[in-house]
Formats: sequence, structure tokens, C-alpha cells
Amino acid sequence: MKHILFVCLGNICRSPTAEAVFRQRVQQRHLEQQIRCDSAGTSREHSGEAPDPRAVAAARRRGYDMSSLRARQVRVEDFEQFDLVLAMDKQNLANLQRLAGPEYRHKLKLFLSFADGDANTNGDSTGQEVPDPYYGGPDGFDHVLDLVENASDGLLDHLTGSAAP
Ligand code: 4NP
Repeated sequence: MKHILFVCLGNICRSPTAEAVFRQRVQQRHLEQQIRCDSAGTSREHSGEAPDPRAVAAARRRGYDMSSLRARQVRVEDFEQFDLVLAMDKQNLANLQRLAGPEYRHKLKLFLSFADGDANTNGDSTGQEVPDPYYGGPDGFDHVLDLVENASDGLLDHLTGSAAP
């Protein structure tokens, strides 16, 4: 069994979107007994809240259900219990690196390191990050979904051993 944790700042926009998208792919491939996922935020500001209605609506338009998800903050036990802790951006990754003991740092990665194409470009300030859509317009939530779908496919290929070399 592999346990994957998706992490953003508030756990109401990006990481619950990743949880819903990735879980649907796991279910479609009947891998629920091999792969489990959850999401959390580095901040506790929105703990207990349902996801942002804009994220829920954008996800629903593509057939993903986020309605049962509730925000929670990252816990130190997460670093032991999860096999991979995948941050949506570099700030969240830096915060996780500060929280996790050195024995767990190898579990921490940027989620978009599993994406291909433009979603995984190195060398510019936006490469490998899922941009925070909270203060932007509705297009931001569709962009999050595009990136999350891409990286979810790559992550599933990685976990099932069918990734391109
Ligand atoms: P998330 O988005 O980290 O993708 O859940 C945000 C949610 C809330 C805030 C910022 C980003 N906020 O500042 O309250």
C-alpha cells in the first residue's frame, strides 16, 4: 500500500483538487487497495472548512466530486505515515522541509515533478508550481485542474511502474 499526501497552503483549493482528481484515477484503475491519498494545508486558517466553492464547481464540470472533503493542517505524524508528501508550490515545500525531520525529507517533492511538458519546466519562477488560484479569476481553477490532471497521470504511472524511462 502506498500513501500519498497532497499539500498546499489552505487545503481548500489546490490540494483537495489534487486529492479528488488523483483518487478518481486510482478508482478507475481499481487500485484502491494499493494506493490511498489525502490532502492537507501548511496553514490552519481554513481547517474544518469545505473546499472553495470555485474549486468545487470547476472540478464538478470535469466530473470530479470534492463535496465530502474538509480542510486539515499538516501534522508531524504525516511524514511517517505517508510515503510521498507532494507540495503544490515551492513555498509549501520549504515549509514542509522545515517541519519534517531529516529522515523524512526524501518523501517531500513538488507535485509537478511528476508532470510532463509545459507543466514541468525548470528554470523559471513558475516552473513546477501549481499557482495559487485563491485571489485570481475563475480561469485559475481550470488551470489548476489542467496541471493536476497532468501530474496525476505521471504520478500514477510512477507508482504502477509504467512511467517512461
Ligand atoms: P490553497 O489556496 O492553498 O490552494 O488552498 C489558498 C486558500 C486560502 C488562502 C490562500 C490560498 N488564504 O490566503 O486564505
